[in-house]
Amino acid sequence: MCGIIGYVGDKEAVPILMDGLKRLEYRGYDSAGIVVIDACGEVRMMKREGKLKVLEDGLAEHGLRGTLGLGHTRWATHGSPSEVNAHPHFSSDGEIAVVHNGIIENFLELRAELEGKGHTFASETDTEVIVRLVEEALKGGAPDLEAAVRASLRKLKGQYAVGLLRRKEPDKIVAARLDSPLIVGLGDGENYIASDVPAILNRTRKVIYLENEEIAVVTADGCRVTDIEGNETVREVKEITWDIDAAEKGGYEKFMLKEIHEQPQAVSKTIMGRISTDGKEILMGDLNVTPEEIRGLRKIFIISCGTAFYASNIGRYLLEHYTNIAVEVDFSSEFRYRNPKLSKQTLVMTVTQSGETADTIASLRMAKEKGCKVISVVNVVGSTIDRESDGVIYTRAGPEIGVASTKAYTAQLAALFLFTLWVGRMRGEIDDGRFRELVDELQRIPAKVERVLEKERHIRSVAEKYYRATNAFFLGRGFNFPNAMEGALKLKEISYMHAEGYAAGEMKHGPIALIDEHFPVVCICTGANKYDKMLSNIKEVQARKGRIIAIATEGDDRVKDIADDVIYVPETVEPLSPLINVVPLQLFAYYIALERGCDIDKPRNLAKSVTVE
Ligand code: M6R
Repeated sequence: MCGIIGYVGDKEAVPILMDGLKRLEYRGYDSAGIVVIDACGEVRMMKREGKLKVLEDGLAEHGLRGTLGLGHTRWATHGSPSEVNAHPHFSSDGEIAVVHNGIIENFLELRAELEGKGHTFASETDTEVIVRLVEEALKGGAPDLEAAVRASLRKLKGQYAVGLLRRKEPDKIVAARLDSPLIVGLGDGENYIASDVPAILNRTRKVIYLENEEIAVVTADGCRVTDIEGNETVREVKEITWDIDAAEKGGYEKFMLKEIHEQPQAVSKTIMGRISTDGKEILMGDLNVTPEEIRGLRKIFIISCGTAFYASNIGRYLLEHYTNIAVEVDFSSEFRYRNPKLSKQTLVMTVTQSGETADTIASLRMAKEKGCKVISVVNVVGSTIDRESDGVIYTRAGPEIGVASTKAYTAQLAALFLFTLWVGRMRGEIDDGRFRELVDELQRIPAKVERVLEKERHIRSVAEKYYRATNAFFLGRGFNFPNAMEGALKLKEISYMHAEGYAAGEMKHGPIALIDEHFPVVCICTGANKYDKMLSNIKEVQARKGRIIAIATEGDDRVKDIADDVIYVPETVEPLSPLINVVPLQLFAYYIALERGCDIDKPRNLAKSVTVE
């Protein structure tokens, strides 16, 4: 996600801002910018696409000086990675600047409204509307930047952490947040804002964590915090005791653990703005396919690798369940060398976190050469697959640093669910009542994932019982069969324990020969539909003395009698259950790997992005 830093004091701001941005580099970014109020009281900025070094070289050449400023690293969500889309963004007269982290859900409406008032926008970003709203509020009589920001925030839907400065108020930064993190760092005669502790940890350990809808006015001498109504709030000053390494990981031991915990936000960001306000439609933006093409579809091919391949398989179950379209899923490395029968009535989808996986790129190109439209589910905006696809559904999971994919997977599942509903509605295959129920349940998923995360200690204790095993099976049926394979992949890639995921009904066709009293078998038995069948499969394992770890729905007492260990998860509809059930599998793999002393964020032999065949 984007990184923010702001400084106000008596020192030169630019080196402090650049240093802070470098300390936020680990979060990932595609462009960066800086704005200051200089000694003549003018607002001056520089932004560049690419690495901080490019911005640094620009600054060395042209120089920017001033004792108050804001810095930003951007990870594109709305609009491609480019200099013009990089932050800061400005009011029409260039006197007010904003840097932003988050997503403004209603920015298209706001933008249209502002265009009606004569605004022309320089960028494709959602961020620019924020500063234009502030400008309008000041024109409309707001007495100062703080009041104008307060009035503007009321109009925003979505998530934000913002920092603003104004030429006419050269001694202050105004900052605010809603569902995106923002802190104020307190120094001696100088103060900071930052999206994350590491940005300022070498300068101060005294920090105020802003709460949702709080506004901070930060000057060199202090910081005043108010709520959205303008009432002053008293915030405790916290002393940070973490070292820099822990701070980068938000206090978590590893990036993977941090990213597992970021899943509620990853899912809610992926859903955000994609359900119409009347709750009747899915809004997919410009997918570049006509309703006629969707209605005429005969087949969808979903192509991907690794974790994205398992998400794609769940996508297949979803599309088959809710629509009448035939769906085929294949590994990119196979699809590209097959002779698949593709026609104008075939839609090809790729699913990818990085958007740079070599085999998936080659498959996409092949499908396009054969005249198919290609839609992609992509996390990295501006990646090759983003650029070359006819249409894109962005998962808004933010940068994923751990090699093992976690939050990108759950975001992919949410995106594929939305896509399925969109297709089903367009073809008249999902009625209003069903649609409403599914959309409501989808919106409850982030809170349910949160509840699973609260069981981390129990999951850890289960992992500690089994970490010495040499093999493990993961069993599931239906929507949770691909999820079982994803659970096995997580375990093998980070703990190096041999693990396989199977369709539970396949056990007796061979794999059950391996089961003995040393063999842990993780069984996903939440699906009401196949529950009894799953229980019979578990009993087959139990009869061979296998050690059963069940993932079961809260309140399910039957499973307790068969399983050695049970991890309970909240109830949901079966097609959405993989989003919840995968979380204990990720934590189980994580804690087994931790016990085995593995390098969890960088497992041996693996790369985050497989850009070669
Ligand atoms: O970037 P992609 O989603 O295209 O990457 C595909 C796989 O390489 C990836 O999902 C890999 O399997 C995961 N890192 C495993 O956790």
